[in-house]
Amino acid sequence: MTNNILTIALSKGRIFDETLPLLASANITPLENPETSRKLIIPTNHDNIRVIIVRASDVPVYVRYGAADFGIAGKDVLIEHGDNGLYHPLDLKIAKCRMMVAVRKGFDYASVSQAGSRLRIATKYPNIARDHFSQKGVHVDIIKLYGSMELAPLVELSDAIVDLVSTGNTLKANNLEAVEHICDISSQLIINKASLKLKHLQIQPIITNFTNAVEKNSQQ
Ligand code: ATP
Ligand code: PRP
Repeated sequence: MTNNILTIALSKGRIFDETLPLLASANITPLENPETSRKLIIPTNHDNIRVIIVRASDVPVYVRYGAADFGIAGKDVLIEHGDNGLYHPLDLKIAKCRMMVAVRKGFDYASVSQAGSRLRIATKYPNIARDHFSQKGVHVDIIKLYGSMELAPLVELSDAIVDLVSTGNTLKANNLEAVEHICDISSQLIINKASLKLKHLQIQPIITNFTNAVEKNSQQ
């Protein structure tokens, strides 16, 4: 953050793929594909702009500490891990999905999720799950998982899961159904507060280009 190199933190996979057109709108092109390269620092077509590749849930950490000037993170990650010290001026409307509660098909969720009851919930999002069920007055035992949440109800590790749903194909393939919508999720531009001040001339045009690209996408 202290030099004039602009560092952008991205995760590979869907965020990287869906960010490429936004970067292109600001005339930024990464020179390697993180899916095929083992490099974690990827140069771009600008000598003073680079992309670093980190895990989705680590993006806010790199930006908060100024190791990256800005990055792109899912709202799920920001709600779960907090967004202290980050400026997030723009919903990029990419990687859209929904945070849902899901159970095995046929499981009588309505009667076991009354206020005062107790449920076992498997999730990668313990804070989001705890908040959701505390608002309903339902007691929960949270089992923290790091992936493949859909398996948990099938092998009776949990009664329900809290996870992201987009097409619904993963739930369907595993004979699960969504029973509650917690919130809508999309990716946000997050910026280190000091970078925004110190590198304003470099960052502001990128925000403007991203804003225009998002607007154009939402009109299509
Ligand atoms: P980590 O490696 O930190 O565990 P991850 O495996 O969740 O991260 P991705 O699957 O690439 O990483 O998801 C990155 C972001 O994309 C999530 O934080 C979420 O905002 C969004 N996302 C996750 N699943 C979907 C989906 N099925 N459809 C659309 N967006 C999604
Ligand atoms: C996410 C999420 C679901 C799936 C939902 O997993 O955890 O499993 O997407 O998408 P769908 O409704 O379109 O099927 P992801 O693909 O990121 O895999 P992961 O288990 O590695 O997180």
